[in-house]
Amino acid sequence: MNINEKELFDKAIKTMGNAYVPYSNYKVGAAIVCDDGNIYTGANVENASYGLTNCAERTAIFKAVSEGAKKVKAIIIVNKTDQMTKPCGACRQVMTEFMDADGQVFLSNNKNDFEEYRFDQIMPLVFDSKELN
Ligand code: THU
Repeated sequence: MNINEKELFDKAIKTMGNAYVPYSNYKVGAAIVCDDGNIYTGANVENASYGLTNCAERTAIFKAVSEGAKKVKAIIIVNKTDQMTKPCGACRQVMTEFMDADGQVFLSNNKNDFEEYRFDQIMPLVFDSKELN
């Protein structure tokens, strides 16, 4: 699949504007390309009970899977600062469920800078469904 990073970046930035972040004031946006050919987006949604916060990456993935997507081929993550956005551990575990080792991960920031990784570079030694067999 030919991933258009700029299109993904623009969608993630737009969705970041919808982040609900009254506690951290740290907005994050994500955009993912799925096996169904669609792009899904997500923003972080916080809660007064802090632990219930949903990160942008998981918002996007859960939206996609609930709409019928089975695989995430690529993800981009942006935030409102000039620092690259690194997915948290919980999101990496959820990504494990739906991304293959060679899935594309684009870390980005508010300036259209990109770092590209394979998923297995940012999530080595995964715990996945194969462990359960
Ligand atoms: N956050 C994300 O949305 N994605 C990440 O990968 C890191 C953290 C959110 C959660 C919380 O709303 C805010 O950033 C500060 O931790």
